[in-house]
Amino acid sequence: MSSPLQESNRNRFDRIAAEWDDSPTRRNLAVSVAATITEAVPLSPQWQALEYGCGTGLVGAQLAPHLGHLLACDLSSGMLSVLANKAHASGLDNLETRQLDLTREPPPAERYDLIFSSMTLHHIPDVPALLSTFHGMLRDGGWLALADLDAEDGSFHSSEAEGVAHHGFERTELSQWLEKTGFHEIQARTAHTIEKNAAEDRTRQYPVFLLTARR
Ligand SMILES: C[S@@+](CC[C@H](N)C(=O)[O-])C[C@H]1O[C@@H](n2cnc3c(N)ncnc32)[C@H](O)[C@@H]1O
Repeated sequence: MSSPLQESNRNRFDRIAAEWDDSPTRRNLAVSVAATITEAVPLSPQWQALEYGCGTGLVGAQLAPHLGHLLACDLSSGMLSVLANKAHASGLDNLETRQLDLTREPPPAERYDLIFSSMTLHHIPDVPALLSTFHGMLRDGGWLALADLDAEDGSFHSSEAEGVAHHGFERTELSQWLEKTGFHEIQARTAHTIEKNAAEDRTRQYPVFLLTARR
C-alpha cells in the first residue's frame, strides 16, 4: 500500500509528465549531472546500471550509451511512458523502464555496477533506509552517484508542490549516512547551480551536489 506522500508524488508526476522535458532549467540541470557523473565514475559498456527516480530519463538517456544496460525505475507510470517513447524513438535499446518504489517494494534480485539518482532523494522520507537498500543492490566495488539540492530554505518548490520530504541535504550529513551504511571513497562535488526567479525580481541560486561512493 502507498503512503499519502508516495500517492502525492505519483499523482503529481503523472500529471506533469508530458510537459516535464519542456523546461530548459531541467534539461540544463540534467546535462550537468550526466557530465559530472561521467567525470566522476569510470562508466563501462560492460556495466549493468539502475537509475532510481529516472523521471523522463533526462539524465539516464545521456548515460545509457556508455553503459551495457540501464534499468530506469520510477514511481510514476506517466514519467516512465514518456521515457519509453523517447528511448524507442532514438533507438536506445539497452534502456528498460520499470515502475518501482523501493520504499514499499523489495529490490530486484540482480546486482548492479552503478546506481544513480538525480533530484529524487528529496522525495524520500527515510533516506538512510534507501541508502541501505542501494548498498544491498550493488556488487562489491559498485558505484553510487546521487545528485540533489544542497540544503535550502524551502523556497525551491512552490507551495503547491506536494510530495517533498526534504528541503535539500547537508552534504556532510548525507556523507555520514553513506559511511554508516558501509560505503567508502565518498566524494562530494557541485554538479550544477539552478537559477530561479524569486520574489521582488530577485534571482535565487540553488546548488546541486553530486555525491559518489563505492560499495
Ligand atoms: C524531481 S523528479 C526528477 C526526475 C529525473 N531524475 C530528472 O532529473 O529529470 C523526481 C522523480 O522521482 C520520482 N519519485 C518520487 N518518489 C519516488 C519513489 N518513492 N520511488 C521511485 N521514484 C520516485 C518521481 O516520480 C519523479 O519522476
